Amino acid sequence: MGNYDLVFNKSVNEPDLFWAEAAGNIDWIKKWDKVLDDNNPPYYRWFQGGELNICYNAVDRHVENGLGDQNAIIWDSPVTDSKTKITYSELKEQVSLFAGVLKDQGVVKSDTVIIYMPMIPAALVAMLACARIGAIHSVVFGGFAANELAVRIDHAQPKIIVCASGAVEGKKVLQYKPLIDKAIELSKHKPEKCIVFQRPEVQAVLDKEYDLEWQEMMRIAEPADCVAVKATDPHYILYTSGTTGMPKGVMRDTGGHAVALHWSMKNVYNTEPGDVFWAASDVGWVVGHSYIVYAPLLAGCTTIVYEGKPVGTPDAGAFWRVISEYQVKVLFTAPTAFRAIKRDDPNGEFLKKYDLSKFKYLFLAGERLDSDTYHWATNLLKRPVIDHWWQTESGWPIVANCTGIEQFEIKPGSPTKPVPGYDVRVLDDEGNELPAGQEGNVVVKLPLPPGTLATLWKDDEKFKKSYMSTFPGYYETSDGGYVDEDGYVYIMGRMDDVINIAGHRLSTGAMEEVVSQHADVAECAVIGIHDNLKGQKPIGLVVLKGGVQTDAESIKTELAQMVRAQIGPIACYRETLIVSNLPKTRSGKILRATMRNIADGKDYKMPSTILDASVLDDITATFKLTGLTENRKNENS
Ligand code: COA
Ligand code: AMP
Repeated sequence: MGNYDLVFNKSVNEPDLFWAEAAGNIDWIKKWDKVLDDNNPPYYRWFQGGELNICYNAVDRHVENGLGDQNAIIWDSPVTDSKTKITYSELKEQVSLFAGVLKDQGVVKSDTVIIYMPMIPAALVAMLACARIGAIHSVVFGGFAANELAVRIDHAQPKIIVCASGAVEGKKVLQYKPLIDKAIELSKHKPEKCIVFQRPEVQAVLDKEYDLEWQEMMRIAEPADCVAVKATDPHYILYTSGTTGMPKGVMRDTGGHAVALHWSMKNVYNTEPGDVFWAASDVGWVVGHSYIVYAPLLAGCTTIVYEGKPVGTPDAGAFWRVISEYQVKVLFTAPTAFRAIKRDDPNGEFLKKYDLSKFKYLFLAGERLDSDTYHWATNLLKRPVIDHWWQTESGWPIVANCTGIEQFEIKPGSPTKPVPGYDVRVLDDEGNELPAGQEGNVVVKLPLPPGTLATLWKDDEKFKKSYMSTFPGYYETSDGGYVDEDGYVYIMGRMDDVINIAGHRLSTGAMEEVVSQHADVAECAVIGIHDNLKGQKPIGLVVLKGGVQTDAESIKTELAQMVRAQIGPIACYRETLIVSNLPKTRSGKILRATMRNIADGKDYKMPSTILDASVLDDITATFKLTGLTENRKNENS
């Protein structure tokens, strides 16, 4: 039996023993009474009775253990022409002070704080400061519009908002403060204060009564110490797109989360303390939470905070420059980033300029890794290019090639095998387990390992209904796929109305809600179709109300503006097709999946429940007219 099999079997057969051993790498204020509390399924609790502080584990203990002079954070911002190194001692000082600022504003344990910041070290300081005093942060990605922020404010009910004055996005300088003000105006819940980190590139105008300036508050604050937090207490809330306009507030606990993330750094990513780890993502996404902030710091690594793009800031050699300049061992990003580099520099000319001798692995996740990109990156880098699969809900990888345990041969198209702790199965729609090679619903047998979502914020029922009800005893991932004869898992895509645009998860349902608000729209469907660069893009199919006089082009432009204003630029909603009818089942359900297959040039079965097959023929003809289907067919062949 190989090392992986030994470790995997122990993780599912003796989870208490397995995770208790892993928990030895975390410093506890009070040891747990029980490793796994399974008294109330599907609400499992890890390290019941234990107490710790995750900020202490990520920052203070490294200083106490003599790593104070090691870099904790390297900030590299080509868009502002800035570079900064922050040691663990300096990070401890900044985090303690900002924790003091929060305390001065009356933030106490269990209060919520919303953070809306770009990729600057202050974002990490704010997150760690919350954890230091037991407050629960909810970071909202900067590409979301005021309306989306307002929805999260109303749900998370933050005492304070922490933001930056703005972001530098490629060549654009964006003001964040007007967006925050608008969100607070829209929300019913009003946070008590807004703390604004002023950036030299973009100064915010502050309201003397309501806003506080970060820099000024830091000058007068007293440092605050770490408090004891129960292992089962919430660490953070991260909203993620579901199938409707209301995002899901994934709640992560404290103890299990610290244990799992620390374990993953050695076992999945094969890193040691002192290694430089770079997750080229954003703190607003789960990859940022786990692998820009908490995991590398818990493990005593140096984390890179990169404010830039893979291309255009200034060129397609940006990633190679950062890897060589800081001796990065592991780069983790989304396939989209590599497609962008491939597009701009197909022969990898930029790579020749840099020394990548310390670079060992490229990990990719967030969307399906297409074989072109896999082969291109492998041939260029001559290093393992490792696809791994996970979700906001899991918080860390579910399926991966665990390089720190036993590195398997890579099969392109598969993220390899289940990560220890995750008992992955494939079920048919009736819940029967499918044999190797047959595609179905990818699920995880309960209990989920530590570090995964404990529940949905303030909504235990929705948690149960969304993830645990379709297949009792299993967590429903909403991804389809299969396992081959060798135990390799293949993830084929979402089975619901969630799409991935440039590795960003968005809801077509939420976009439909916006499109249907247009006065001229009678009915609509938004589907995700293939896009060469971003993996997927949304496209709206719209039926207009009878007698509408407005010209179609104006309606299309207005719809794009509405989605941009209400959801955000990150939704990338640009295309609308006006159709005379939408294909439906006899019970009135719109056949979105069938339309998706047609648009992507894939084979599809005519649904037996279809109300009027000629509507589907019309849709096919419309797709053909726009050239959509043909483009995709060429790529498929
Ligand atoms: N704040 C405000 N606006 C933002 C933003 C932020 N933090 N991030 C993105 N946006 C805006 C962009 O400016 C763009 O606006 P535009 O329509 O006015 O041009 C829009 O949202 C779409 O952004 P993006 O998807 O990033 O597209 P892009 O064309 O600027 O860049 C890539 C394309 C491929 C280079 C980029 O998507 C990328 O780097 N992807 C890597 C994927 C990644 O990191 N995924 C995270 C999960 S691991
Ligand atoms: P998010 O919650 O934003 O991380 O998005 C999770 C979704 O992204 C998953 O449910 C998958 O559909 C998709 N995804 C993430 N990683 C991969 C991968 N390696 N291969 C295929 N799909 C992936």
